[in-house]
Amino acid sequence: MVAIKEKLNETISAHGGSLVNREVTGVEREKLLSEAKNFNSLTINAWSISDLELIGIGGFSPLTGFLGEEDYLEVVNNLHLKDGNVWSIPITLAVTEKEADSLNIGETIALYGEDGILYGTLDLQEKYRYDKQKEAASVYGTTDQAHPGVKKLYEKGNVYLAGPIALVNRPKHDQFKDFHLDPTETRQLFQDLGWKTVVGFQTRNPVHRAHEYIQKCALETVDGLLLNPLVGETKSDDIPADIRMESYQTILKHYYPKDRTRLVIYPAAMRYAGPREAILHAIVRQNYGCTHFIVGRDHAGVGNYYGTYEAQELISKYQDELGIQIFKFEHAFYCNKCENMASQKTCPHDKSEHVHLSGTKVREMLRNGESLPRQFSRPEVAEVLIKGLQRGSKQ
Ligand code: ADX
Repeated sequence: MVAIKEKLNETISAHGGSLVNREVTGVEREKLLSEAKNFNSLTINAWSISDLELIGIGGFSPLTGFLGEEDYLEVVNNLHLKDGNVWSIPITLAVTEKEADSLNIGETIALYGEDGILYGTLDLQEKYRYDKQKEAASVYGTTDQAHPGVKKLYEKGNVYLAGPIALVNRPKHDQFKDFHLDPTETRQLFQDLGWKTVVGFQTRNPVHRAHEYIQKCALETVDGLLLNPLVGETKSDDIPADIRMESYQTILKHYYPKDRTRLVIYPAAMRYAGPREAILHAIVRQNYGCTHFIVGRDHAGVGNYYGTYEAQELISKYQDELGIQIFKFEHAFYCNKCENMASQKTCPHDKSEHVHLSGTKVREMLRNGESLPRQFSRPEVAEVLIKGLQRGSKQ
């Protein structure tokens, strides 16, 4: 154990200083499991379970629970926690007023999933009402309910519960079990692989040629790539995570160096909060042990809510306060004249030579069983996606 600690000390520190671990195990867990039968309880949704898990395993370090009001307001208004650490997205647990009224400050609440499993407990320290308009405008940059993140926010209960959590049971990621590592494990993995510098890559989409290009540009200067796709809740027209996971394995097998790439799931829900979510994504990857993080065009964006480089602009303001280095990439595309992937920075040719396909168009083509242009997607990837979508998701 000492040896592991010493080794881990050499790696990048977690956001806020040290990796949080709120998972209860062994005797302590058994005790909590039996006590929980007498606790007041709540049923929480998949989104909140994923937040609970990420707090528990340290992905959201330095958070130890759901945000209290002071932290919440500081995050919404100033992108910081009250301890001074940068934090961009409020991690909160919403309940209805009726539910809130039935719970008392000072008690421990049992948090069950809709499947009846006890996922965790919350030491209830605060209950507070919050301003949804204000949160939407500040965090998402819009109050338009056509925005999927804003829509979720408006559907939530009106009261936030706050306090430290304990993670009792992890959500099962059985179908991804070969790719399920927590931040302690990825940190150890990087040590074992001898990777001193690691670039993290967030995606909620299949890996297309532009993704591959920017990942490989980054890989020219760092030791390893952590392909870290988000597999929690996404909007209904995004490609389901199980089908994407199959496509990631395929592209890695055919086009990436085995010894310099690893695929690990990021079990979070997607907020589509663009610039602010880019900061959260970077912080989490620091916690997973990455030294670098890619922010490309319209990171975590949806529709036309954010400017192409707004996420890069916002995260640049906080670069000095982050322990992870941001690699910013221009919009990349295939240029027919260059016969290569390129960006405005490297390609002199007219736009008409550039191959562009919108996400919506791509999904439509795949669902119709049409293969994608080779300039846009590796054929092996398109094949997996078409088959997957025809067969349907197992999720
Ligand atoms: S998301 O999670 O950020 O919504 P997405 O798959 O769209 O996932 O993008 C993953 C990463 O690749 C983000 O950093 C995004 O900015 C970047 N990216 C996506 N497409 C391009 C592109 N054509 N050129 C440059 N960067 C891109």
